[in-house]
Amino acid sequence: MDEKSVKNTSEKNKQLNNNVQVYDQVNCQKDLATHRTLCAYQKSMTTDTMLAADSKVARSSFGPQVKDKVVIEVKDLVKTYYGQAGETRVLKGINFTVHEGEFVSIMGPSGSGKSTLMHILGVLDTPTSGLYRLDGIDIKDYSEDELAAVRGRKIGFVFQAFNLLAQKTVLENVMLPGIYGKIPMRQRQDKARELVGLVRLDNRCDHLACQLSGGQQQRVAIARSLMMDPAIVLADEPTGNLPTDQTDEVLSFFTKLNREHGKTIVIITHEPAVASYSDRTIVLRDGVITKDGPANKDIHYDTN
Ligand SMILES: Nc1ncnc2c1ncn2[C@@H]1O[C@H](COP(=O)(O)OP(=O)(O)O)[C@@H](O)[C@H]1O
Ligand SMILES: [Mg+2]
Repeated sequence: MDEKSVKNTSEKNKQLNNNVQVYDQVNCQKDLATHRTLCAYQKSMTTDTMLAADSKVARSSFGPQVKDKVVIEVKDLVKTYYGQAGETRVLKGINFTVHEGEFVSIMGPSGSGKSTLMHILGVLDTPTSGLYRLDGIDIKDYSEDELAAVRGRKIGFVFQAFNLLAQKTVLENVMLPGIYGKIPMRQRQDKARELVGLVRLDNRCDHLACQLSGGQQQRVAIARSLMMDPAIVLADEPTGNLPTDQTDEVLSFFTKLNREHGKTIVIITHEPAVASYSDRTIVLRDGVITKDGPANKDIHYDTN
């Protein structure tokens, strides 16, 4: 390398280090441009160390296709529970945005408010104060009925305990949101078969949910979350009930949904190894965001 290119490389490294430092100082996600540059940079640096979780559905080599459109915006979000024991302030002023196509993980110790936040993002619950704009619309502008419709159409949920109907078949479970969404029978069946194929359970269509392993059940739950073709998939500790060997295969499907199908993914987890599948990690501690930046599986967030 000649002297000029050494100088250029060193300038470039200096600039990148500078960017990282600048980014580290940003608590909330205000500088998305820097964030995205770092995402892309980090991807190119760590491609060979990434987990190839599943031989057929391995992590895609290309990065996230993040768009300009903001799909989730929360501002000064507060959630307080009022009960017999008095009031519990669970979320104490949360600020962040998520752009279409992002893959975000939310980490934090037990009781830090992760599920509470997820329920608000999924419009299963409402904030005590603050703003939540989903796909550009303030949720306060929706009636109860409209909120239910929005939830069905825009958001897919994946839960820790899978929440499948144990005595129904794989196909019936996947079709279920289509019944609530009033999709005609034939169309519902075709869509469910396509989704079961996506999570590679084609040969299990007629098996009962209770006959499947935990990892397979969670794959059914992922397929079910996609029935109404939501733009956003929210997952609350989706690998929390799985043995390690089934964790990777489940996570590889989230990657696939993000990279190949452009879904915005927000996933809650305790584990840095799980967060490393995402591109950005938000750390929640005692109801406030303590970190928001590029995900890195080598960083061990103090979450316990
Ligand atoms: N419905 C509720 N009423 C009162 N307190 C609640 C309710 N739901 C959650 N909490 C409290 O809010 C805090 C955060 O809970 P949660 O969001 O489930 O945390 P995490 O998912 O991070 O473990 C906990 O202290 C919990 O006891
Ligand atoms: Mg929780």
